[in-house]
Amino acid sequence: MPISRNEFRYALSRFASGVTVVTTKDTGGRLHGITVSAFCSVSLVPPLILVCIEKNTGSHRALAESTAFVVNLLGSNQQYLSERFASRLPDKFEGVSYRRGIEDLPILENTLANLECVLKYSYEAGDHTIFVGQVEKSHASADGEPLVYFHGNYTEIKNSNGNS
Ligand SMILES: Cc1cc2nc3c(=O)[nH]c(=O)nc-3n(C[C@H](O)[C@H](O)[C@H](O)COP(=O)(O)O)c2cc1C
Repeated sequence: MPISRNEFRYALSRFASGVTVVTTKDTGGRLHGITVSAFCSVSLVPPLILVCIEKNTGSHRALAESTAFVVNLLGSNQQYLSERFASRLPDKFEGVSYRRGIEDLPILENTLANLECVLKYSYEAGDHTIFVGQVEKSHASADGEPLVYFHGNYTEIKNSNGNS
């Protein structure tokens, strides 16, 4: 018998993750963006990554009908972007700086890195879908600290010398 939802969530909250914003657009051309911590690398050759998206989100519908998406890796000073793209605001992109990339999708400015992907595979997995993207283009900044999510809170990586 599987463990309870609360027990599962509590155990997973002890796993520290980075925070990303995945952007895409639907067939009507409307932009979508969603805060995602369920992101990981999959394959080096070819370069593949995955994101897990809950089925009842607006972004899921958009991703399911899309052919491309962008993963934006947030820096420690971008908690406001994580909160904005985890919200139900009608226009999450209002006031957000971005440029256009693959298939005219938004690439958020000043992130630690971004990955422009074509959608290669998708797999149903419970109440989520695993979307696997092949990275066609990337940009990464040489410095900057990551935004970290741990135990239900945002945090930063602390250096051993005590500086954050
Ligand atoms: C730190 C953080 C991490 C999240 N990670 C995920 C995730 O990995 N997958 C997911 O489907 N939702 C995740 N969410 C929840 C979505 O961001 C949230 O449901 C969002 O409102 C969906 O927006 P949409 O309906 O416009 O697509 C996360 C939220 C936060 C705050």
